[in-house]
Amino acid sequence: MKFSQDFIEKVRESTNILDIISQYTQLKRTGHNHVGVCPFPDHTDKTPSFSVNENKQLYYCFGCKKAGNLYTFVQAFQGLSFPEAVEYLAQRAGIPLPKESEVGGPGGLGSAASKEREERKLLWRINEFAAHFFHQQLLRLPLEHRVRGYLKGRGLSAETIAKFQIGFAPDSWDSLLSALEAKKIPLFQAQHLGLIKARSQGEGQYDVFRNRVMFPIVSPQGRYIGFGGRVLGNDLPKYINSPESKVFHKGRIFYGLHETAKFISAKNLAIVVEGYTDFISLYQAGITNVVAVLGTALTAEHARLLGRYTKNVVILFDGDSAGQAAAEKSLSFLLAEGLFPRGLTLADKMDPDEFIKTKGAQELVSQLERAPELFRLVMDRKLSSYQGGAADKVGFLDQIGPVLLSVKDERLKDLYVHQVAEVLEVSGQWILKSLSQARKQGGGPVKVPSLKSGDSLRQEVSQEAPEATPESVLTISNPPKAELFLINLALGRREYMEHIEKSGAVEQFTHPGLRQLFLRILDRYRQIPSEFDNLSAYFANQVEPASTVSLHLDGQFSEQTQEGALKLISDCLLKIRRAYASHTTKQLALALRAQGAGSVQSEQKEKLERIMNVQRQRLPLRKESGASEA
Ligand code: UTP
Ligand code: MN
Repeated sequence: MKFSQDFIEKVRESTNILDIISQYTQLKRTGHNHVGVCPFPDHTDKTPSFSVNENKQLYYCFGCKKAGNLYTFVQAFQGLSFPEAVEYLAQRAGIPLPKESEVGGPGGLGSAASKEREERKLLWRINEFAAHFFHQQLLRLPLEHRVRGYLKGRGLSAETIAKFQIGFAPDSWDSLLSALEAKKIPLFQAQHLGLIKARSQGEGQYDVFRNRVMFPIVSPQGRYIGFGGRVLGNDLPKYINSPESKVFHKGRIFYGLHETAKFISAKNLAIVVEGYTDFISLYQAGITNVVAVLGTALTAEHARLLGRYTKNVVILFDGDSAGQAAAEKSLSFLLAEGLFPRGLTLADKMDPDEFIKTKGAQELVSQLERAPELFRLVMDRKLSSYQGGAADKVGFLDQIGPVLLSVKDERLKDLYVHQVAEVLEVSGQWILKSLSQARKQGGGPVKVPSLKSGDSLRQEVSQEAPEATPESVLTISNPPKAELFLINLALGRREYMEHIEKSGAVEQFTHPGLRQLFLRILDRYRQIPSEFDNLSAYFANQVEPASTVSLHLDGQFSEQTQEGALKLISDCLLKIRRAYASHTTKQLALALRAQGAGSVQSEQKEKLERIMNVQRQRLPLRKESGASEA
């Protein structure tokens, strides 16, 4: 959904950034700012370099330079795309989302798209209703009921059952069906979700999940997208999962992620297990940075989704051969996403749930800490039949080659090539040559869909179907310092803003992105001058990196005296004028040369005159600058 700028602002202003950030790091008030240890997982330095300016609703880290507003923070910590972050915060603040018709209009959603979205919403609601129903069914059971006994026997606490809304589908053909009918919920959609099925003979439908423990699957945005249902005994199939639907795509879903994303970000490590019970076991044991795939290998989309939260992954699959094969399959996708995968195989073909029950969580934690690289594990497994002959070497490289080719991080790739070379007792050169030969013969790396940038990419890995259009974000690369500084000086204080605006310097910005940004800032300021303090936070999610408009929180600006700041402003203005003059001269000279002999003389004359003018402006500048440097 594309939201209006007004709505985006309304939502942002409804939540204090301090409340959100305080969940992740402890902040102490100092002057205008609240200061604490940077909560971003890739910032390991533990000095309090992170500051939040409540007045401006901005955060900035002097250490790692991460900066932004409420949206950029929520995006980073919950792994949401921009539209998802807007929705999430709106929901949190109790602000109803605009109706589709209001967001439509020119450039808005077509009616087909909006209908689809409405339908998905209905599907989420139906699943949520069913989850609630199953959960209530479980809670209603008497304490001595065998289902309760079963869950207790498996060690599930009441708290876990509540947190993950675990439920029970009664042993009946129509208990959910009746509840749906009583609520007048459209059965057609419930059927699409795989909750009920049409009878093959006669009329009507029947419940799909019967006599099963129900695990609702919730997306990071808190939507109910599907279910897994486990039999109580040893009947087959052990689990029934929701079928693929408009809201459920097994290949991009992690069970539990909505609850554990924050732990994964905070610990900068994700532990991936194979299923519901392993997930619950680890979570209950206090290993909360965990997610589960639904009994499959990881896909490219899974890897991308994980990459939102961390680069460090431990694959903790079952010790049986199926689990190990799935772990091996995951390797290339993880490497292709630039992640650093490790792997842990538990002894005696145990699964993590059994392991915790027999050996304890502490032992699992210590084995996780020592988990070797998944690449190494996979290599060792392939080496079990390796004898060292020439054919063996070539055969081995044929197997491991595609993995090597998939590694996105070049440094990591070099290390792995080195490892393989050592094991095979060949040179790294030989391996690289063989790889490039294999690639020419069409071997090549695993096909991983190519990456796009920004929100569209995040959207692709959304656990729900794609729905949102990316915001128009200005990406700023290689900003000239003077222009970047001037913008931040202007954002620092109203008087500076006025002063810089009057100078007209924005017209002389040579960086097109910064120029556009500053024009937008000035425009916004002129429209609502009273909102000055809000300006930086307003723009923080419209520009990449967000530090482009938050740099003024850095001490070099915020701790300046007025005199110092004014001096800095005039230095920047001077540099900008000078750069502009030389830039324009070059442009004109180029244009002249390109026109060559065939052109009309008067035009040439005009251009020459403009060059002269610019140069005339430049001369006094030189003097001025000489004087100020003296
Ligand atoms: P497991 O067979 O290892 O089950 O499958 P489990 O999670 O350890 O469950 P318990 O401990 O025996 O009760 C791992 C995952 O594979 C998927 C489920 O997601 C399961 O959690 N699976 C397994 C299915 O989807 N269908 C099945 O029939 C079996
Ligand atoms: Mn298992």
